[in-house]
Amino acid sequence: MRTPIIAGNWKLHMNPEQTTEFVNAVKDKLPDSDKVESLICAPAVDLDALRKAAAGSNLHIGAENCYFEDEGAFTGETSPKVLSEMGMNYVIIGHSERREYFHETDEEINKKAKAIFANNMTPILCCGESLETREANKQEEWVVGQIKADVEGLTAEQVSKLVIAYEPIWAIGTGKTASSDQAEEMCKTIRETIKDLYNEETAENVRIQYGGSVKPANVKELMAKPDIDGGLVGGASLVPDSFLALVNYQD
Ligand code: PGA
Repeated sequence: MRTPIIAGNWKLHMNPEQTTEFVNAVKDKLPDSDKVESLICAPAVDLDALRKAAAGSNLHIGAENCYFEDEGAFTGETSPKVLSEMGMNYVIIGHSERREYFHETDEEINKKAKAIFANNMTPILCCGESLETREANKQEEWVVGQIKADVEGLTAEQVSKLVIAYEPIWAIGTGKTASSDQAEEMCKTIRETIKDLYNEETAENVRIQYGGSVKPANVKELMAKPDIDGGLVGGASLVPDSFLALVNYQD
C-alpha cells in the first residue's frame, strides 16, 4: 500500500520566524504518518528553523532544491550531504520554475536524483507539460520523455522509494486545476512508464503526486483517483489552516 503524501512547496516565501510560527500552528494537528505523510519543503534559509520546530512531530521536512555534488568550489549551491545531516527527508527536483528560469536540464536533474539517494533522502521529481504542448496534444510523450531522462541509471529499489510530482505548467499558480480525470490519466501513464522501465512491483510502489492549484476544495476528488498518491501544493500550503485541511483530507 502506498502512503499518501501531501507536500507544501513554499517556493520563495516565508522567513525563519514565520516558519517557526507556521510549524507551531500545525504540528499537533497532523495525521499519523502511516495514514498520510505531511511534508513541508522550504527555502534553504528556513530549513534550520523548520527542523527545530518540527522535531518530534509528524511533520516531514524537505528542501526545494540542492546541487549534485556534496562539496567543492560551487559558489551559491546547497549540499545534499548537509541537507541530509540536517535531517531533511525530501528534496524537490526538476520543478518547472527551476527548469524554466534557471535552465535546469534533465541531465542535471538526473544527477541530483542520484546525489539525493546517495545521501539517504528521497527526491520529489517534478515533471509536466506547458500549455502549448498540451494544446498540441503532445503531453504524454513530453512527460514520458522527462521521466525516462530523469530516472536513467536509478535502481528499481530507488525508484520504488521515489516520489514523482506531475505538475502541468498551465495549472501552477493559475487557479486552473487539471481536471481530476486529466490528472489521473497522466499519473497512470507515468506509472505505466515506470512499469515498462522497471517492473510491476516498482510501478506499484512509486508514489505519484499531482500538483497545480491543489486546494482544500479539490484535494478529496484528486486523492480519490487510483493513481494519484498525493499533492504538491504551492499557494495553499502557506497558511496553516489551509495546509491542515489538505493533509487531513480524509477526515
Ligand atoms: P500551486 O503550485 O499549488 O500554487 O499551483 C504548485 C507547485 O508549483 O508546486
